[in-house]
Amino acid sequence: MNVLVAVASRHGATWEIGAAITSVLAARGHRADLQEPAQVSTLAGYDAAVVGSAVYLTSLLPDARDLVERLGTELAARPLWLFASGLASPTSGARTTSELAALGERLGARDNRLFRGRLERAGLSFAERVAAAGVLNREGDHRDFSAIERWASTIADELEQVRVERARATA
Ligand SMILES: Cc1cc2nc3c(=O)[nH]c(=O)nc-3n(C[C@H](O)[C@H](O)[C@H](O)COP(=O)(O)O)c2cc1C
Repeated sequence: MNVLVAVASRHGATWEIGAAITSVLAARGHRADLQEPAQVSTLAGYDAAVVGSAVYLTSLLPDARDLVERLGTELAARPLWLFASGLASPTSGARTTSELAALGERLGARDNRLFRGRLERAGLSFAERVAAAGVLNREGDHRDFSAIERWASTIADELEQVRVERARATA
C-alpha cells in the first residue's frame, strides 16, 4: 500500500516520530512517503495516510490544520491515522486530546494518539521560551519510540488487512 505520512513539526521532534512510523511501514512492505503538509497538494496515488503534528499552545500546528481543511475529503476517503506530540500538562493535554478526537471523528480516522515530545530550551527563540513557560519544566526528550513503533505496527497490520480485502474484492 502507498501511504502518505504528513508531519508538521517546528523543531524536528515530531518529524522524527513521523520518520520512525515511516520506517516501520516500509519494513512491513508498504511504500511510505514522509512529507511536510505544505508540500502535499493531493492524495492521488496514496491508499492511506497518517497525519501528525507537534502541539503548540494547546493546538495542532497551522500546517496540519490547513492540510485537513484543504484535503479533508481526500483524507476522509482513505484509511487514516492521526497523531500529535507534545509535553502537555493534564489540562492542555485534555484540550489537545479532544481536538484530535474531534478531528478523528470528522475524518473517520481509524485511530488517534497523543505521544510525548521533546523540548530543548537551547533551540528556542526568546519568544518561544516565553510562550513555552508552562511546559519549560518538562525540558528533555520524552519520546517513547517503542510505543510509537508499536502503534505504527498496528497501522501496518490494518493496512495489510485492507490490502487483502481489496484483493479479494477484485478477484
Ligand atoms: C512555544 C511552545 C509552546 C508549546 N506548547 C505546548 C502545549 O500547549 N501543549 C503541549 O503538549 N506541548 C507544548 N509544547 C511542547 C511541544 O509540543 C514539544 O516540545 C514538541 O515535541 C515539539 O515538537 P517539534 O520539535 O516537532 O516542533 C510547546 C513547546 C513550545 C516551544
